[in-house]
Amino acid sequence: MKVVVVGAHGKVARLLTPLLVAGGHDVVGVVRNPDHTADLEADGAAPVLLDVESASAADLQPHVEGADAVVFAAGAGGKGGPQRKLDVDRDGAISLADAAAAAGVRRYLLVSAMGLESVVDGATPDGVDPGFVDYLRAKLAAEDALRSRPELDLTVLRPGRLSDEPGTGRVALSRSTLGHDDVPRADVAAVLAALVQAPGTAGQTLELLAGDVPVEEAVAALA
Ligand SMILES: NC(=O)c1ccc[n+]([C@@H]2O[C@H](COP(=O)([O-])OP(=O)(O)OC[C@H]3O[C@@H](n4cnc5c(N)ncnc54)[C@H](OP(=O)(O)O)[C@@H]3O)[C@@H](O)[C@H]2O)c1
Repeated sequence: MKVVVVGAHGKVARLLTPLLVAGGHDVVGVVRNPDHTADLEADGAAPVLLDVESASAADLQPHVEGADAVVFAAGAGGKGGPQRKLDVDRDGAISLADAAAAAGVRRYLLVSAMGLESVVDGATPDGVDPGFVDYLRAKLAAEDALRSRPELDLTVLRPGRLSDEPGTGRVALSRSTLGHDDVPRADVAAVLAALVQAPGTAGQTLELLAGDVPVEEAVAALA
């Protein structure tokens, strides 16, 4: 398969690319910083230099042509205010959807986040840092925009708090709310690699935490 990863120098993405490459897939990695292209090449990906805050869907489309799946793993993180979260986490994800649709690519994996129910319908959760509320709102807006696109075979992955602990290869993956806890980025990457090859999970929103079920088994059970 050809897989396009947007945000390819992110911590999760850099764990995902080697898994995909090891699985025999071709990976195109979209980054915005020219200093990151050498790392992508070392990971086995073909780098593409694009900033999703300024690039349009038309800019992305040529790189998505011929892909079997796209993965949106970018995020503004703690950098910048509410507008940057919307520009990256929401509008970047939408630009990728537009590019995928124009290129006829159906399979789309969106890395989202847990806790979005707390901001549904404009709600403001008590005691939550305003910057984090902005982040949740941007993620929810991305999910809602993508779910309204019947031309996509979308799987939304909502991991818990990401850690840099070693992966265990075992997870809790569910269509139901799991509560709040950690999950190693390595296990998020392993789940994404399995989801790329599990089109039966299209239309699903999956929560992910560290757990006991081997990744392949957890994905297969939902596919
Ligand atoms: N942290 C958590 O606990 C948590 C929990 C649940 C979900 N998530 C989500 O999981 C995903 C992956 O997390 P992670 O830890 O791998 O994130 P990360 O290491 O911060 O990676 C995010 C990547 O997005 C890229 N990016 C930012 N703005 C961009 C732009 N305008 N154009 C292109 N690329 C851009 C960044 O590039 P630069 O290096 O150039 O900035 C960075 O490489 C993110 O969507 C995050 O929101 C995080």
